[in-house]
Amino acid sequence: MAQAVRIHAAGGPEALVVDTIDVPAPGEGEALIRHTAIGVNFIDVYQRQGLYPLPFPFVGGNEGAGVVEAIGPGVTEVNVGDRVAYCMAVGAYAERRTIASRRLVRIPETVPDDIAAAVILKGLTAEYLVRRTRPLGPGDTILFHAAAGATGLIATQWASSLGATVIGTAGSPEKVALALAHGCAHVINYRTEDFVARTKELTGGRGVDVVYDSVGADTFPGSLDVLRPRGMFVSFGQSSGLVPPFAPRLLSLKGSLFMTRPNLANYVADRGELEDAAAALFGVIADGTVRVRIDRRLPLASAGEAHRALEARETSGSVVLLPGGE
Ligand SMILES: NC(=O)c1ccc[n+]([C@@H]2O[C@H](COP(=O)([O-])OP(=O)(O)OC[C@H]3O[C@@H](n4cnc5c(N)ncnc54)[C@H](OP(=O)(O)O)[C@@H]3O)[C@@H](O)[C@H]2O)c1
Repeated sequence: MAQAVRIHAAGGPEALVVDTIDVPAPGEGEALIRHTAIGVNFIDVYQRQGLYPLPFPFVGGNEGAGVVEAIGPGVTEVNVGDRVAYCMAVGAYAERRTIASRRLVRIPETVPDDIAAAVILKGLTAEYLVRRTRPLGPGDTILFHAAAGATGLIATQWASSLGATVIGTAGSPEKVALALAHGCAHVINYRTEDFVARTKELTGGRGVDVVYDSVGADTFPGSLDVLRPRGMFVSFGQSSGLVPPFAPRLLSLKGSLFMTRPNLANYVADRGELEDAAAALFGVIADGTVRVRIDRRLPLASAGEAHRALEARETSGSVVLLPGGE
């Protein structure tokens, strides 16, 4: 038996209900882990709202760190006692869970569990965004929306370390200051300034090479207007609501633009790619390139409060849930 936070019907943060669940013993290719820290993400909100539908009831959460307590037959990736982390496997809001062992990566000794839980989903997202969706390097100028968010703070530090000039957007003066301290050369408060006009000004009228947009409805179609001809629109989320449908010809009219709508799951499904990406992520944490900011730690039972704060734009950095309390 384990304490878990489940969703029985789509709804607001109050839909997160503390329950006691059975945890199955690990079967073939599975491991049983005891969570020590659990990351909170916007995907958890989309699933709770029903935007990304799942069969009810389900245990929320997609990112966690913990210790392997048992393994099933055929498990090769981890051993009992290993400290491990994973992402993109719903069911994290629980004291214990079973999970496919191929999703687990070992946490280096130098990385504490709460940092691993804070970073494994957001940091692997940052990894594919800056290194694989559109490999960044010197000479690139990018616009990264929500730069003071959990994913934003990691991605902007990483992008800047690759030589890119990073322009960020953020929703308050405090968030602007934070983003400036985490890799951004310029930060636009998009609640008070026209981010399209300001980006054009900052790039001497040229526009940016890549725009990374997880805000969605509120920043569309402005994000297309900040791109140079043949630039790339990376639409990777919708914190403010879905990007409205549009005709492909719009990309032509805005300058023969490229667009991708990536999903982390497709960048870490292959075990080799997951291991390479995790090694790169733990590498940039170890050498100080990326500093991970935990905005707040809350008890597991306060998952609803964590969702409320995330949706209210109150957080800057990762939110971590701790089984057994703060
Ligand atoms: N596709 C993928 O593979 C993938 C993987 C991970 C995350 N994501 C996406 O990346 C985004 C960031 O995720 P995160 O967990 O790191 O969250 P986060 O960035 O820490 O939080 C979201 C931020 O978005 C900004 N925002 C703008 N309009 C908003 C609105 N109407 N409601 C709420 N927030 C708004 C807020 O920053 P300001 O106050 O500064 O505007 C807020 O702090 C999400 O859209 C998520 O879905 C996608």
